Amino acid sequence: MTSQLKDSSLFKQQCYVNGQWLPAQSGKLFAVDNPSTCAEVGQCPDFGAADTEAAIKAADVAFKSYRKTPARARANLLRAWFNLMMENIEDLALIITLENGKPLADARTEVKYAASFLEWFAEEAPRIYGDTIQASNPDCRLITLKEPIGVCGLIAPWNFPAAMITRKVGPALAAGCSVVIKAPGEAPLSALALAELAHRAGIPAGVFNVITALDNTVEVGKVLTTHPIVKKISFTGSTAVGKLLMNQSSSTLKKLSFELGGNAPFIVFEDADLDVALRGLIASKFRISGQTCVCANRILVHSSIYETFLQRVVDTVKNFKIGDGLDEATTHGPLIHARAANKVHDHVKDAVSKGARVVFGGEPLSDLGPNFFNITVLADMKPGMKVCSEETFGPVAAFFSFDTEQEAIELANDSEVGLAGYFFSKDSRRCWRVAEALEVGMVGVNVGAISDPAAPFGGVKQSGFGREGSKYGIDEFTITKMIMTGINT
Ligand code: SIN
Repeated sequence: MTSQLKDSSLFKQQCYVNGQWLPAQSGKLFAVDNPSTCAEVGQCPDFGAADTEAAIKAADVAFKSYRKTPARARANLLRAWFNLMMENIEDLALIITLENGKPLADARTEVKYAASFLEWFAEEAPRIYGDTIQASNPDCRLITLKEPIGVCGLIAPWNFPAAMITRKVGPALAAGCSVVIKAPGEAPLSALALAELAHRAGIPAGVFNVITALDNTVEVGKVLTTHPIVKKISFTGSTAVGKLLMNQSSSTLKKLSFELGGNAPFIVFEDADLDVALRGLIASKFRISGQTCVCANRILVHSSIYETFLQRVVDTVKNFKIGDGLDEATTHGPLIHARAANKVHDHVKDAVSKGARVVFGGEPLSDLGPNFFNITVLADMKPGMKVCSEETFGPVAAFFSFDTEQEAIELANDSEVGLAGYFFSKDSRRCWRVAEALEVGMVGVNVGAISDPAAPFGGVKQSGFGREGSKYGIDEFTITKMIMTGINT
């Protein structure tokens, strides 16, 4: 691995705590495997409860001085870190591809996306504003201050092993908080490479701590969510794990922001521009082989254009090249592990057993390896199939048909989760109606790629709460303190 990097010192296999590179106290390690080849890429410490507690304590000590750092100085640190990421795009992308499997082109895009959160929050750090408020009592003056909440526990997913780190750390550090970040067990090396760059950028020791665990993940999560020093948990992952972490966090009433699972509806109305809808669908459905929380999961197409649109999608996906992410010709890589590939297969088999039609793909690509699943297009989907109630998190485009706008909205909202939703129409009045009717936190209207550091990212219903990115993202890491001053005493 190191021989492939321009800067081999970005490849770290220890945790970063209080400015030091550390093994687990137990000496236990876990292997990080390349999802394409199943070959071992590296080994990381399986941190336990005592290691995690030490990291929290280091973050607490660092917080006491870091919180007083002037906003401009915090901005400069984040900007320096952003610059270092941009100088190391190729190496960071290689690490992402090796541990996550996504094609190099997507990995490069992720590095830029990840860096953009540091840039964005460098710009937000000096723009944290309180209010002056007219007090009810004329003898009093009232203002609010925004203060950093304290030590934050951040738990990040494997699908964007760099971007989901910076989307959480950027606002936390901009606000003046210190963090302990639990890197994803499947793909921890990107977070450790970012720690090396944070160190070079001059982020003070103890402000940014990265810990890794695989077998001990539950134990580490428990310490982060129950420790009294930790004041805030930001988590991206499944709804089931979110519920567990929320329960645990209730013992100390932590502030929470949770970005959980989605089941995005993608509606194509009869008046849509089909070229635009096709581009949107490819971007939304097949980005990193369908492994994003905002991927289209249920594609609802008006019956009058159903077969035409379906055929155009098939004509496009048959040109995709599935393979090892390191091969520049690869357009779509493997799934993260065999469990993920099996879940995708289960959704396909369930749909077919209930009457769905396989129009393309539909099977694992075992010749390539245990984690590969073919790009799949399913037609004649119906409510009651697993795709309707579970996030597939894989490359399956599942097509439903509808006849009226009301029916499309009802189908779209027939879900316990509500993260992203998309629709395509040229009628501006319909655009407002449908955008307001969808029960989701994010709507793409005539666009399938909605991820942007300037946009508030987050969901409603069982997709969680809180917003990441944007001018709102920093609020998640601050508290509002009110100060009332009597002027005639
Ligand atoms: C996610 O899948 O959780 C993040 C997707 C994105 O930021 O675009």
